[in-house]
Amino acid sequence: MAEKNGSVFSNVALEFVRVTEVGAIAAARWIGMGDGKAADQASVDAMREYFNKIDFRGEIVIGEGAKDEAAELYVGEKLGSGNGPLFEIAIDPLECTDSVANGRPNAISVIATGPEGSLYRAADSYMEKLAVGRAAAQVIDIDAPVKDNITKVAKALGKDVAEVTVAILDRDRHEKLIGEVRAAGARVQLFTDGDVAMAIATCLRDSPIDVLMGIGGSAEAVISAAALRTLNGEIICRWKPKDEKHIKRLNDAGVTDFSKILRTNDLARGDNISFTATGVITGPLVEGVTFIPEAITTHSIVMSTDPKAVRFIKTRHINE
Ligand code: FBP
Repeated sequence: MAEKNGSVFSNVALEFVRVTEVGAIAAARWIGMGDGKAADQASVDAMREYFNKIDFRGEIVIGEGAKDEAAELYVGEKLGSGNGPLFEIAIDPLECTDSVANGRPNAISVIATGPEGSLYRAADSYMEKLAVGRAAAQVIDIDAPVKDNITKVAKALGKDVAEVTVAILDRDRHEKLIGEVRAAGARVQLFTDGDVAMAIATCLRDSPIDVLMGIGGSAEAVISAAALRTLNGEIICRWKPKDEKHIKRLNDAGVTDFSKILRTNDLARGDNISFTATGVITGPLVEGVTFIPEAITTHSIVMSTDPKAVRFIKTRHINE
């Protein structure tokens, strides 16, 4: 039965790429138009419609918000025809809404899935994050000083500290962290948005990014973890609610211990985890959508844990 379910999971996971493709195409029509909300809504509408054409049983565990905050793709919403084993879904129809509004890089439409009980039901808040690829997965420690982590990562990667590049979200809250990374002798690559792609970039051989550090969204942590499960990378996180509103939201969700450390395997547990993303605007993970009169081209990445595989899918959608 386990094997039978395994193949059900990997077959349906391949269907999800069509969902992220339609989401990315819908959002890409809004690139540079100054309206991130409209871009996000376009993505939500397109993805939801396609999801419901798939013969599967899905439930959103991380989505656009609680049922009273979001009309579509809300937490708890059921998707698909209702057949087969349950897929938990963490979805960010448009990761980097501001990037799309302003024509900046790194926007993706993204879905992570897994069987019942697999995805950490992270309420919407912030987490402190430390992510690396497989070679350094065993040496990082979120409680260690920045310098120690960088020194250990450099050793694990066989690099000089000066050759280590740390990606950090360009936010005022990271001023101290940026100073500490530079003082350790490593390089900083600031980015405006999109720490999912940056967490995954730590695992990609061709990417200059070795480490992701800093505070970002909690949904993004779970989605990143799903990808890192396939790539044998490691993301270590800890809740960092930004204000009283976040604290209340977390408390309401049953989270009271903000010191608890959450690792890749806590955020995306067990077998049959998948990650699917389609580029809206080019970033370190995938290229963005391009439009020509006769066709639209999309670039997607599909990862699954059973068996561990990464598929790169370039699709030309031919116009009628
Ligand atoms: P959106 O999908 O909400 O646009 O998030 C983009 C993003 O840059 C994430 O990648 C990151 O985790 C989060 O925002 C950081 O939040 P903030 O912009 O509030 O610092």
